[in-house]
Amino acid sequence: MGQMIPDLAATSRASTTKIKPNGIPNGINTAGKKCQHDPTFTQKVIAATGPNANPRLAQIFPSLVRHLHDFAREVNLTVGEWSAAVDFLNDCGKMSSDRRNETQLLCDILGLESLVDEITSKQLATSTTQTPSAILGPFYRSDAPFLPNGTSIVQGLSPSVSWYEKALEDSAFLSGKVLSTDGKPIENAVVDVWHTAPNGLYEQQDSDQPEMNFRGRFRTDQQGRYALYALRPVPYPIPDDGPAGRLLGLLDRHPNRPGHIHFIVSAEGHRTLTTQLYDSRDRWVDDDAVFAVKDELVVRFEPREGDPGARWELGYDFILGRC
Ligand code: BEZ
Ligand code: FE
Repeated sequence: MGQMIPDLAATSRASTTKIKPNGIPNGINTAGKKCQHDPTFTQKVIAATGPNANPRLAQIFPSLVRHLHDFAREVNLTVGEWSAAVDFLNDCGKMSSDRRNETQLLCDILGLESLVDEITSKQLATSTTQTPSAILGPFYRSDAPFLPNGTSIVQGLSPSVSWYEKALEDSAFLSGKVLSTDGKPIENAVVDVWHTAPNGLYEQQDSDQPEMNFRGRFRTDQQGRYALYALRPVPYPIPDDGPAGRLLGLLDRHPNRPGHIHFIVSAEGHRTLTTQLYDSRDRWVDDDAVFAVKDELVVRFEPREGDPGARWELGYDFILGRC
């Protein structure tokens, strides 16, 4: 792995002077000469799929092989570079556990999780008015406590905590409704919410935080309303101490995500919505390391008057499509 990226970087720099990046037909090399590669090779690999192959794989594998082979030919990929890429993927696997998914993180910095989320949500959408989805990210915990409406997901706040002052400054009241696409309020919908502490860490990344800190599930009332106290979210770097972080460094990219709050909103008879809301005043809102921000999900926190529990407030209605 150590040698892979410098080697790759050198090759791509050298090749950009010779290679026309787009529109090079198969079998023609960058100098416009007939290619030395066997023009039937890719088709042979595709044709090796048997008649009893898994149907979805049989449908998508030819395209995967074509794109992979075209990529290798386009950049004149060497054995050394391919082998280093294999090591890199293996490193991602070795770093992954039930607490950390480095391969998913790699997909995130490639924009792949966001792209797949967009493709899936467009396919499943039953209405154009439903709230857009956003990626789940690796820090979701499915068993957050159910809390009464109007209570807080902030735990363990005391002057001894290093982020105490920041938590007071950023205290926020979140409220709104969960609606169906026809505008009807949904009773008993579940709003599952989570965000980081002001130090930019989710509770499972930070042994100083109480279990399930900044997480909670709220049920909507008869008018479809939810309400809770939380914090205005802070930006944070995605974990960059592993292979994905090394790749970011070699690409001269930053690891930062704009401040955001995660939500999963679910209700009977409706499609579950996984999404995030982004603070419009965040420094990284137009430059997310994992390309997940959508305009409709960028929100403005307003100052809150007369509430000792919150300096900011945000009203947001979630609109769920029907199943
Ligand atoms: C997150 O929003 O929690 C997240 C998303 C992608 C990569 C890392 C973190
Ligand atoms: Fe997050």
